[in-house]
Amino acid sequence: MVDKQKKIWVDGELVAWEDATVHLLTHSLHYGVGAFEGIRAYKRANGETAIFRLDDHIERLFDTCKMVLCQPKFSRTDVSKACVDLLRANGMSEGYLRPLVFVGEGVMGIYSANNPIRTAVLAWKWGAYLGEEALKNGIRAKISSFARHHINISLVKAKMMGQYTNSVLAKREAKLAGYDEAIMLDVNGFVSEGSGENLFIVKKGVIYTPDLSSAILAGITRDTVITLAKEMNIPLSETRITRDQLWLADEVFLTGTAAEITPVREIDDRMIGEGVPGPITKRLQARYFDVVKGSDTSHPAWLTPV
Ligand SMILES: Cc1ncc(COP(=O)(O)O)c(C=O)c1O
Repeated sequence: MVDKQKKIWVDGELVAWEDATVHLLTHSLHYGVGAFEGIRAYKRANGETAIFRLDDHIERLFDTCKMVLCQPKFSRTDVSKACVDLLRANGMSEGYLRPLVFVGEGVMGIYSANNPIRTAVLAWKWGAYLGEEALKNGIRAKISSFARHHINISLVKAKMMGQYTNSVLAKREAKLAGYDEAIMLDVNGFVSEGSGENLFIVKKGVIYTPDLSSAILAGITRDTVITLAKEMNIPLSETRITRDQLWLADEVFLTGTAAEITPVREIDDRMIGEGVPGPITKRLQARYFDVVKGSDTSHPAWLTPV
């Protein structure tokens, strides 16, 4: 359960949590067209709160809006400011931010050119997405029987609401079968991503991750990891990955704003490497946490103070 907070930002106003409701005729509730983001604010080692890569998340939100033809009434600056204002109004020194841009009530047909485009930002407290134990010791994953969307069936670069039914089905399947997370292949059988995370493997000291032309979300944590790996002189290649490469990898880890850097210790009942988080995963995870909430300030542009 999400812990109730004081306020939610809705169309330019900070309203009481319990008053932030929508009508059942809300178009997005029926057809799923709309954009959302997931952003984390951390309390850093110096006691100050900073939102991690806020500008990049807001840029992806507006990119999704562009792709799904939902033009928000608010500017990027307005939505960024809403994120900061909301954390302050709720007295939150850390938490998860969820901007939403959705189609409101009006026409109920599929074509809804004149329905209002509504914007909201929610915030709640969210610990480790897959659990503290997962961050420390890794998770067990299963390759899903559901394929990731084909690039011409949906908009894989969009963080579009309705698209997540694909992730929900895959995640449910994996959990019901006793695993922690689903790994999805694309329609051609190449490794794509987790239900809500990008995927990396390590083999003989080199990191591999699917390239951006594949059916993956352009994850901001993915980009952070690529940047940090370069800085740490760890070789990295963006390329296609097959299921057998995944099973035979020395290390596998998933990345996401929610999942942060989560090691994978087993896939489809095959142990990955030694069955424990590997050295490169551990180095990157330590550096990541130092950047997002520790004392590493080498990327000031990634930190928006609250
Ligand atoms: C399908 C999918 N892939 C990857 C990611 C990771 O993206 P990010 O690192 O920007 O949170 C997410 C989370 O937003 C996601 O939902």
